[in-house]
Amino acid sequence: MSANIVSGAGGRSKDVVRVAATSDVHCKRGSTGALRPMFAEIAEEADILLLCGDLTHFGLVDEIGVFLDDAIPVMKKIPVLSVLGNHDYEAGKQNEIRKLLTEAGILMLDGNEQEVLGIGFTGVKGFGGGFGDRSLQPWGEKTIKNFVKEAVDEANKLETGLNKLDPGPRIVLLHYAPISGTVVGEPPEIYPFLGSSRLEEPLNRHSVTAAFHGHAHKGQWLGRTSADIPVYNVSVSVLRAHFPARRPYIIIEVPVN
Ligand SMILES: [Fe+2]
Ligand SMILES: [Fe+2]
Repeated sequence: MSANIVSGAGGRSKDVVRVAATSDVHCKRGSTGALRPMFAEIAEEADILLLCGDLTHFGLVDEIGVFLDDAIPVMKKIPVLSVLGNHDYEAGKQNEIRKLLTEAGILMLDGNEQEVLGIGFTGVKGFGGGFGDRSLQPWGEKTIKNFVKEAVDEANKLETGLNKLDPGPRIVLLHYAPISGTVVGEPPEIYPFLGSSRLEEPLNRHSVTAAFHGHAHKGQWLGRTSADIPVYNVSVSVLRAHFPARRPYIIIEVPVN
């Protein structure tokens, strides 16, 4: 599998699916139209689009309307899969947002599985807690235990989704980071709020093809789990910083049978 930072070059093979991904578009009231050129380009360049959450800035239903207005060209042409991000929870309207996205035709992932064009997909929002030996442990106050439980529950949901997927190419969508490698560049003080190693363990155990996430707006676009699985941070701000001459999405080419 290769990561191709797309510019529309090259022919298309029937045995390769071009998977585009972006994240953290943070639509706001009044931002209508800002994403249309990118989505129109993705509709031409890719076979599938993945969105890793924070589609809205304040989690408002109006904002998801802005997002959907801009996304219509790509949704008409290729399958779109998404998880929600923490910003999509901000106003407590996450269920309504998920319903609107589903009704518009977007395949929403939250521990469920989808097979599209020969690739198995699952995903969860994930949660924080930190990485490696420094991960927050469920010890002491109940509030700390509840915080850790949220991360454990998300990791368990991811495991459930992965268990349902057939062998073959499998891709995971997350909002929070599963490894520290793709959050490097953020202030170290906030690493524990950007992701959790608890999300890495299921990726390694199931030998997935690749994982995508967002949330860390100043991280690195590419890292690897301890089992060498590629992890892509596709936040638009990360991709703009690393690839200033391109629109902020990437495409990977996934061989399928
Ligand atoms: Fe974000
Ligand atoms: Fe976020």
